[in-house]
Amino acid sequence: MKIKENYSLERHNTFRLPVETRWFIEYDNEEELLRILHDEYFRESASVHIGSGSNLLFLNDYNGMILHSSIKGIDLTEETRDTVRLRIGAAERWDDVVAYAVSKGWYGIENLSGIPGETGAAAVQNIGAYGVELKDVVETVEAYHQHSSQKHTFTKEACRYAYRHSRFKEDDGSLYIVTHICIRLSKIPHLVLHYGNLKEIIISQYATLPHLSDVRNVILSVRKDKLPDPEQFGNAGSFFMNPLISAEHVEALKVQYPQMPFFRTEEGDVKIPAGWLIEQCGFKGKSFDRVGVYDKQALVLINLGGATGQDIALVAERIRTAVAERFRIELIPEVKYIG
Ligand code: EPU
Repeated sequence: MKIKENYSLERHNTFRLPVETRWFIEYDNEEELLRILHDEYFRESASVHIGSGSNLLFLNDYNGMILHSSIKGIDLTEETRDTVRLRIGAAERWDDVVAYAVSKGWYGIENLSGIPGETGAAAVQNIGAYGVELKDVVETVEAYHQHSSQKHTFTKEACRYAYRHSRFKEDDGSLYIVTHICIRLSKIPHLVLHYGNLKEIIISQYATLPHLSDVRNVILSVRKDKLPDPEQFGNAGSFFMNPLISAEHVEALKVQYPQMPFFRTEEGDVKIPAGWLIEQCGFKGKSFDRVGVYDKQALVLINLGGATGQDIALVAERIRTAVAERFRIELIPEVKYIG
């Protein structure tokens, strides 16, 4: 176990904000986690559990305990003729899991290539990209309840997965600490290429039937073209979720904005790309002192150098207000504010 006092979180949040936490505690296994959960001081302190900080906005220094898991491992726990089941430690970098699965020829998560962050947080957030969400492959999620210290194994249904949502983001659910997830992947070739112009890009680059690793490579390069590297500009990927609006609302908007892109969800709502709404309001490529709106994807806010969490939150608020006034749509941050 690693315990640090007055510790800088600069390398633990991809906005690269140089905030400090009173305590930083990193545990290596479930026994150590249980020791922390039973600790009197921990029980009385404010605490937040983080992954690699790729979806966090620290507004201030944190006067409590930041917990971080070091539980790793990708174990093959079952293999059938057609599928494999993997049990993965929460601290495993998500993209390492994808790279491993692709190298083994296992299908299901290749579209989730290049997403920053760790596996536990990926399962809490239900990460999604290019037509695939983590929920599509999850079988179970193992987690400890912070108050009772009991371990629970949740089935996919019990995780209440939805777009960028799970029970672990709900009020009670956020008291769970995820230690492992189990996913099932397919050994039978099956590619998901319906998103945007993914299929055309792949076909233009690979004349023959695309291989699993071709899909990964194309997605990595599309992401590289659209999304900034946090080593260059601190950022947390999409700052807002894509809003879901009613069918009536979209009909009304289409009259005024016939070119507005939208996608129907399985539940009958309509999803509008927040990037488009933000671009229409004139923010794309603009900078506000030390905070920028990325010029290739308006959904991404970037730290131009020396920004604080408050600076970023203020720009986000400005964007929310402009979009609400113009489109009567409320943008909800995907990024979690802390402090
Ligand atoms: N668009 C614009 N202007 C922009 C950005 C987007 O008009 O500046 C419009 C375009 O019409 C474009 C459409 O929005 O065709 C969709 O854009 P894109 O494919 O980039 O996807 P997105 O909806 O903006 C979502 C995820 C991303 C994920 C991509 C690809 C959310 C909040 N974001 O973005 O996830 O990589 O789809 O599947 O759902 C993340 O969560 O951090 C993230 C990067």
